[in-house]
Amino acid sequence: MLAGLVLLEALSILLFALLLVSKQARDIHERTDQRLQHQAVALALQVREALLENQPGWVSYSVRIAGESPNVALAKVTDPEGNVLFVSKGDADLVTLLPVERAAMPLLRENQARVFALGQGRWEGTAPIYTDGTLRGMVWVENDRAWDTEQLQPIVRGTFIFGVIWIAASALLVMLMARAISRPLAVLHRGTRALMDSPVEGGNFPLPVTVHNEFGDLIEAFNRMVASIDEQRTGLNDTLSLLDSMLANAPIGLAFLDSSSRFVRVNQVFAGMTGISLSRHLGRTLAELLPDPVAQELEDAVQGVFAAGEPERNLELSGQQADSKRPWTWLVSAYPVRTMPNQVRWVGVIVLDASERKRAEEALRRTEKLAAAGRLAASIAHEINNPLEAITNLLFLLRNYCGLEQPAMGYVEMAEHEARRITEITQQTLRFYRQSTLPARTTMAELLDSLLSLYQVRLNTLGIQVVRDYDPAISLFCFAGEVRQVMANLVGNAIDATAGGGRILVRARRSRNWKYPEQEGVRLTVADTGSGMGPGVREHIFEAFFTTKSVTGTGLGLWVSHEIIAKHHGLVHVKSRTTAGGRPSGTVFEIFFPDNQNLAPQGAQTAAAKA
Ligand SMILES: Nc1ncnc2c1ncn2[C@@H]1O[C@H](COP(=O)(O)OP(=O)(O)OP(=O)(O)O)[C@@H](O)[C@H]1O
Ligand SMILES: [Mg+2]
Repeated sequence: MLAGLVLLEALSILLFALLLVSKQARDIHERTDQRLQHQAVALALQVREALLENQPGWVSYSVRIAGESPNVALAKVTDPEGNVLFVSKGDADLVTLLPVERAAMPLLRENQARVFALGQGRWEGTAPIYTDGTLRGMVWVENDRAWDTEQLQPIVRGTFIFGVIWIAASALLVMLMARAISRPLAVLHRGTRALMDSPVEGGNFPLPVTVHNEFGDLIEAFNRMVASIDEQRTGLNDTLSLLDSMLANAPIGLAFLDSSSRFVRVNQVFAGMTGISLSRHLGRTLAELLPDPVAQELEDAVQGVFAAGEPERNLELSGQQADSKRPWTWLVSAYPVRTMPNQVRWVGVIVLDASERKRAEEALRRTEKLAAAGRLAASIAHEINNPLEAITNLLFLLRNYCGLEQPAMGYVEMAEHEARRITEITQQTLRFYRQSTLPARTTMAELLDSLLSLYQVRLNTLGIQVVRDYDPAISLFCFAGEVRQVMANLVGNAIDATAGGGRILVRARRSRNWKYPEQEGVRLTVADTGSGMGPGVREHIFEAFFTTKSVTGTGLGLWVSHEIIAKHHGLVHVKSRTTAGGRPSGTVFEIFFPDNQNLAPQGAQTAAAKA
């Protein structure tokens, strides 16, 4: 731009110089014109005087004097026919008039001079010589071009010097302007470009401050602005990644929906809950992703929040997971997300997976029912005991009654046998449900027999053979109720696995801890020839609520058993295989209970009550 300015300046100076020179040239030409006229008239008058005085020598003298004038190249005198009589320089015989001079001759009038162009920048003034009204000849005065040029030269030189000085001064001024204005402006321009092209990485900031004027201040202000934008951007990025992390890592399901119930953001936990990948949620509506009536209920809640602008809390929704078909229960709250006070932009949905809690409640209800049934059974058994004792005593008296005949005696014996069975059943029932709160030495055979007799009917029905392999003398210092609970769970699972018929082995042995051999105790084994477990099942069996029995299992049996074993500082070991390898399937649970005299008294709640 500045170079353009200098060029413009140079052009205008050139134009100015041209105008000035042409004006000067015109002035010089006018002056030459006047001078030539004047000189021609003066010479004509002098020649006329000489002719009147009859002094021809004066003519020659006057012509030479005229020729001596600095602006005159040649002066000559001709007769009326145009024959040259006198010339200021050279020989008059050798000089003839030019056609252009001859053409001017008829135009001459008395006392009038004329100037005309001879061509090639030469001019000539001519005037007639009249004496007493008779044309006696003409004078011709030709200007000296060199003299004219000389006149013009100082002006041209002056103009040139002025132009050069002017342009140099302008260039200097432009240079100073460039340093003070255009360079800082260019720096600012580059900086702004870099900022616009790549707002995140930016250019080489801060920009250099090369001048100490308003533009320098401007660059400094620009640098401060860029630094503050950077700071704000960093802050914004921090906030965004914080928000992202809050959304992604929240241990609850979070989803945001727009006014057409489309998912705009979803976290991983929510995607895990629906069983649909996170990316498939985005841009899809509730109805497109979730089955009815869940989608409808959720949509109603979301639209309700959009309409009222108020949160909705603790909606309980139940459904099935898309991939695993596992039933779930969600506790949903929806709240408005606003960017302006009166406008709900999105609705945030917080989802808590209440499925486990629901299942736990269900299990607890069932356990409560079982416990209540157990207590009822125990109290019935207890109440039966008194009349039963009376019946037993009466039968004893009846048997010793002398007058009884043989067949009647047989009936009494049968009645006694059945009464003994009732006694046995009531005692076993009482023993099973009696919940001791103190650890005690317990005979394993007694514990296992009472347990197996409870399952006897099921075992017979399913055609399962039970092998009892235990020494009647083996005893253990333990919470008998809890150990019975563990064994009941193991035998119950073994029966479930062997439902098609097979064998179950229940064994008790004195043993040593297989990790710390110095510790003595009892090893209890429950083995079955049932369906067995694959590795996928095997690794989850001690987790709460893990079951493969859908509706018939709670998945709490082994979890509770594991807790009880841990409480007794015992160990558990499982071996199992399915028929997958072509070998017979089956499962072996081995438990080691240390014979620990220092077991702490039990808390208020026994494990039996737990499951
Ligand atoms: N002897 C076994 N043979 C084959 N699978 C077994 C055996 N014992 C346990 N399992 C597997 O372990 C799972 C968990 O057992 P657990 O006793 O904890 O729960 P459950 O039997 O399913 O339900 P419940 O709470 O009514 O006992 C079972 O569902 C079953 O798949
Ligand atoms: Mg079980």
